[in-house]
Amino acid sequence: MNVGKNVLITGATSGIGEALFSLFGKHGHNLYPCGRNEDKLQRLKDTYTTCQPLSFDINDAAQVKLAASQVDSIDILILNAGDCAYIDDVMAFDDTNFARIINTNLTSLGTMLAAFLPKVNKGGQVVFVSSAATLLPFPKAEAYGASKAGVDYLANSLRIDLKKHAIGVSLVHPGFVETPLTDRNTFDMPFMLSAAEAAQRIYKGVMKKQQYIHFPRRLTWLLKVLAFMPPFLRHRLM
Ligand SMILES: NC(=O)c1ccc[n+]([C@@H]2O[C@H](COP(=O)([O-])OP(=O)(O)OC[C@H]3O[C@@H](n4cnc5c(N)ncnc54)[C@H](OP(=O)(O)O)[C@@H]3O)[C@@H](O)[C@H]2O)c1
Repeated sequence: MNVGKNVLITGATSGIGEALFSLFGKHGHNLYPCGRNEDKLQRLKDTYTTCQPLSFDINDAAQVKLAASQVDSIDILILNAGDCAYIDDVMAFDDTNFARIINTNLTSLGTMLAAFLPKVNKGGQVVFVSSAATLLPFPKAEAYGASKAGVDYLANSLRIDLKKHAIGVSLVHPGFVETPLTDRNTFDMPFMLSAAEAAQRIYKGVMKKQQYIHFPRRLTWLLKVLAFMPPFLRHRLM
């Protein structure tokens, strides 16, 4: 008998999502890896027999709806897909870039919830991969930070409303993780973890149904302490 849970992971074709795919797969769960990269999805399908890849763009409501029609039930819905771009010249504010990041990281979650939440079983869980960047305002992060702050609010609000439906919500705050997304960064990224290490921490927290999963703690606690400081002191230290 298959005792694995049905786990849908967005952004499973790269980085943290791909590492989560491997880990949930190794533990014998039934997987729905999602992404746009069809070659990669095909390679993931060849890894585990209990795997049904779904190719769609999270920003395309029709594609999301079609993908949801191919899924019967979900125990763990992991909303991990995302993108990052910085506002390099604040006085020439790039509103196109801003809208793209807000759409991919936040607005798409509304589309995903509309299509997939009805598939989540009682006792199931929705997992939001946000970012430790929401603990403090960072320079050039107007788009990314605002999108992820929205994810935090969405997750924390949804948790209250989903309680009566016996569905839990986990909010994940990763620090820096080595992935194609952070490979683009040119600044120092302290306490960086590998994607496999990040996936281990997320897996452990999700299986314990933790509401808040944050790592590495030496970074997230440091950011929390800085957030309590008066802004002039914090800016000097940062
Ligand atoms: N890496 C870090 O340090 C870090 C830290 C904190 C939070 N996070 C968050 O963790 C999540 C994963 O990041 P990562 O570092 O693993 O990034 P990544 O390696 O760049 O992977 C991003 C994933 O998102 C998918 N994706 C992006 N746009 C999509 C779209 N429009 N439709 C469907 N799928 C889309 C990509 O799939 P396709 O290309 O196949 O579409 C890819 O699988 C993101 O939400 C990110 O904000 C990352």
